[in-house]
Amino acid sequence: MSRAFNFSAGPAALPEPVLRLAADEMLDWHGSGMSVMEMSHRGPEFISIHAEADALLRELLAIPANYKVLFMQGGAIGENAIVPMNMLRGRAAADYVDTGEWSKKSIKEAKKYCTVNVAASAADSGYTRVPPRETWKLDPNAAYVHICANETIGGVEYHWTPDTGAVPLVADMSSNLLSRPVEVAKYGLIYGGAQKNIGPAGLTIVIVRDDLLGGALPITPSAFDYTLQAEADSMLNTPPTYAIYVAGLVFRWIKDQGGLAAMEAKNRAKAALLYDYLDSTSFYSSPVAKADRSLMNVPFRLKDDSLDKAFLKGAEERRMLQLKGHRSVGGMRASIYNAMPVEGVRALVEYMKDFEARHG
Ligand SMILES: Cc1ncc(COP(=O)(O)O)c(C=O)c1O
Repeated sequence: MSRAFNFSAGPAALPEPVLRLAADEMLDWHGSGMSVMEMSHRGPEFISIHAEADALLRELLAIPANYKVLFMQGGAIGENAIVPMNMLRGRAAADYVDTGEWSKKSIKEAKKYCTVNVAASAADSGYTRVPPRETWKLDPNAAYVHICANETIGGVEYHWTPDTGAVPLVADMSSNLLSRPVEVAKYGLIYGGAQKNIGPAGLTIVIVRDDLLGGALPITPSAFDYTLQAEADSMLNTPPTYAIYVAGLVFRWIKDQGGLAAMEAKNRAKAALLYDYLDSTSFYSSPVAKADRSLMNVPFRLKDDSLDKAFLKGAEERRMLQLKGHRSVGGMRASIYNAMPVEGVRALVEYMKDFEARHG
């Protein structure tokens, strides 16, 4: 068996040692005689798995004690509705910053629940940068300010934390949570689907400051009510048990790698390899403003897009998979999350150079 270099944007590659351990423990978890998939979520075995995942996530992100961690379902698209339902807290409007495809989806969904003020938009740049904070037109009465911390499709990432004063900052971190340290205390709410840096699809992580709880709209389904889930330790309904277990193994793997500071150093080195090469040639191009380039998702184009098919075919032959850009933007995209080893990025750059030499 040979594992390929998998550049998928998500569900994405997981660390090989995690997959091996999960395979070893598949039939009989720690002598329990059961797979984790077969355990009651209320039994002592799973309660211990859940508690360890929670503790490791808190440790990795240094989450302050006044924040709740919720392991939920529904993905980030679910959160696009769940956030306004929980966070309006009697207010009628929320601010959103539009940096690309995922922000646009969040805005569209939030409009079902409240007045949305688009405080800033990167549309005029073709979504190639984060609008500078001084251009944002924030509403002081907004219930919250929503950003997408990393636009997985456009490859635009915040490398700074916006100051929104007393209005809570809400961030969709689906594609960059756990890629580097985060100052959690600067946010009211952080959420993300798990299927990039965390674990299997089906799990949604929510980190919420506890003073923001208690004000969900009456129509909020109980399973999506942060307050009810926090009171029930994320077990108001059956949680995605196997996904929580694998996420816990990933958290332990990140800790063993040296934690989030070490992850960041590795991620910066990987991204630099790719961006430095993209900037050194006119055969390929990166559309994103240098200051706002994502460390996780690197979209790029070939000068001659009639070569796209040949590029992808050659990559697959070298066992480099899922490099095709999102259907809405075309071109290529290399997603280089935590589990992508530096060797994978080196192999990609070598292949790109070779392809350029043959077709340039
Ligand atoms: C930044 C971002 N937000 C939202 C989503 C949607 O997540 P889901 O499909 O889990 O609902 C994605 C998915 O890739 C994403 O990358």
